[in-house]
Amino acid sequence: METILKAVNITRSFKINDKTTVHALKDINIEVERNKLVVLRGRSGSGKTTLINILGALDRPTSGEVIFDGNAITGLSDTGMDKLRRKDMSFVFQSVALIPTMTAYENVEFAMRLTGAPYSERVKRAKECLIRVGLEKRMHHRPGELSGGEQQRVAIARAISNKPKLIFADEPTAALDTPTGLAVMNLFKELVRSDGLTIVMTTHDTAMMELCDVVYTLEDGVITDVKVNEDEG
Ligand SMILES: Nc1ncnc2c1ncn2[C@@H]1O[C@H](COP(=O)(O)OP(=O)(O)OP(=O)(O)O)[C@@H](O)[C@H]1O
Ligand SMILES: [Mg+2]
Repeated sequence: METILKAVNITRSFKINDKTTVHALKDINIEVERNKLVVLRGRSGSGKTTLINILGALDRPTSGEVIFDGNAITGLSDTGMDKLRRKDMSFVFQSVALIPTMTAYENVEFAMRLTGAPYSERVKRAKECLIRVGLEKRMHHRPGELSGGEQQRVAIARAISNKPKLIFADEPTAALDTPTGLAVMNLFKELVRSDGLTIVMTTHDTAMMELCDVVYTLEDGVITDVKVNEDEG
């Protein structure tokens, strides 16, 4: 057991005006082990996105600390946070956010360009990642020519292309029907089991939670329950 990510006494408040402050996260403590699929669940407005953005260095907490791979990321500069996100972390969002004019292959290859990997390596790795997510036959389709589930797989191929240690996924299955969502969850599980990844995702869909290792329940900015699923393998 090895901790890859830890949140210690995280709070996040949003000042709306002189009179109103929203306390989106109150006192969050989380410890994520390497090689696990972790779910943050909770109703709309419970703080899932706020928390995953802080864990993934997209946002800073009002107080508290996030420790990634033994290093406190909370004190990093913007550049430091950017670097971390480019190298060790990646993101999959509900809305997918593929570039519509590019094919699946081009979307993945383009993402790798931002890291400065040489062309030959990008070509090889982009194909490898698309095959890994089961899109061998759809590589040269544009997002508009793919189903929602296939588009989400392209986003996952893009997320794994830079070989991150940790993937964050905010509601990756929310736009999909249940069977397609479960297929995405199974792919996540495979990436965790066979490719050594750690995944932290949010969902409010109970069907998706069966397939993960740990479920944190958020209510009104507080973690009210932690459930560890026994490994059936
Ligand atoms: N930038 C912001 N400014 C002000 N309030 C915010 C901001 N972002 C989030 N909040 C508030 O913080 C609380 C938590 O929001 P958050 O988006 O984290 O919820 P969520 O659990 O992701 O919900 P959903 O399931 O709808 O995505 C909500 O009350 C929301 O209105
Ligand atoms: Mg959200």
